[in-house]
Amino acid sequence: MSTLIINIQELVQVREENVLKISGDLMKKLPTIKDAYLLIENDTIIDYGSMKNVDGITADKTIDATGKIVLPTWCDSHTHIVYAGDRSQEFVDRINGLSYEDIANRGGGIINSAKTLQNTSEDDLYNQSITRVKAVMKLGTGAIEIKSGYGLTPDAELKMLRVIKRIKQDFPIKVKATFLGAHALPLEFKENKQGYLDQIINVMLPQIAKENLANYIDVFCEKGYFDLNDTEQILKAGQQYNLPSKIHVNQFNAFGGIALAVKYNAISVDHLEELNQEDIEALKNSNTMPVALPSCSYFLSIPYTQGRQLINAGLPLALASDYNPGSTPSGNMNFVVSTACIKMRLTPEEAINAATINGAYAMGISNQYGSITKGKKANLIITKPISSYNYLPYAFGDNHIETVIINGEII
Ligand code: NIG
Ligand code: FE
Repeated sequence: MSTLIINIQELVQVREENVLKISGDLMKKLPTIKDAYLLIENDTIIDYGSMKNVDGITADKTIDATGKIVLPTWCDSHTHIVYAGDRSQEFVDRINGLSYEDIANRGGGIINSAKTLQNTSEDDLYNQSITRVKAVMKLGTGAIEIKSGYGLTPDAELKMLRVIKRIKQDFPIKVKATFLGAHALPLEFKENKQGYLDQIINVMLPQIAKENLANYIDVFCEKGYFDLNDTEQILKAGQQYNLPSKIHVNQFNAFGGIALAVKYNAISVDHLEELNQEDIEALKNSNTMPVALPSCSYFLSIPYTQGRQLINAGLPLALASDYNPGSTPSGNMNFVVSTACIKMRLTPEEAINAATINGAYAMGISNQYGSITKGKKANLIITKPISSYNYLPYAFGDNHIETVIINGEII
């Protein structure tokens, strides 16, 4: 089955060569073709070009995109979209004066979500989660990373990862799974953190590897959660099972987690609301993608990641949603891109590069996703008629998407 999209006002993020990530000043460039066509066959992009050269190209189906923009779908490299229930009461508690930390200290936060998830059946968890997966696909997300980390027991962590595996099998969206056993210390290990780390390393990891349930390993490297020594144990154990790391780091405190992640060749370091010069130096000449999560900053009223500073230092930057019940109950990547422009002062070109090709890199899939390139997956957003791609982040909070195509399928 082939589809030809014609009269595209502007075809965005066209990369002739299969680049894997975009860094520094190059992020300001977003290659496009005006008045373009795009040809897909089954799940693959096979051709594109100027409408001047469309003669003779035929397809089973034609879509007229007059006045519309076509771009690759968003690549959301950091989510916790599999969770049970919600934490709307904690949201109200924060409005009334409690901090995120206060809530965690009284047994709320991640521990609260874990309690709910432990008491939710696998099928119920799957059903709650796919409602969100369907919603983000409609909002233009075509590839997504999903973490465990709201289980915190061997059974519940495996339950989460099995749900992620089912999502991977049942939906056209590309899914990568990350094991985040070290998300918080369960109450029963309050006085025995090493005991929990040992359980992660000696009980959970071998089973997860055996069932092939994870692509990456993660840890919440943060004061009051897991320190550098704990983090190193987790990253080392992950390496033994061929799980590269993607870690939560520098959300509230900067204390050397980024350099440690780079030492272990982490594929990404995520959050980075608190950054110092050593962190930036550590990222230079590394393969590690810094990932900013502006919706989290928005929701928790914490600083935004200094994306400008990272890009100005010649580094790449990815943007992701962090969709989760505690710090970011939204998976809308359109809002992420807008917020990055409005609050982090990224240009639309930088933000779109960060949310497509660089997001794909942070999931290890940029050879197949994240740009309009021959041979890549047919994952496309067709907008409503709009004046230019600048309009997407500019007119924030509104849905400018008309059609989403994932793996060649109209969603
Ligand atoms: O990425 N920071 C750690 N983990 C999640 C939020 C966890 C929660 O509050 O449920 C995050 O923000
Ligand atoms: Fe997160």
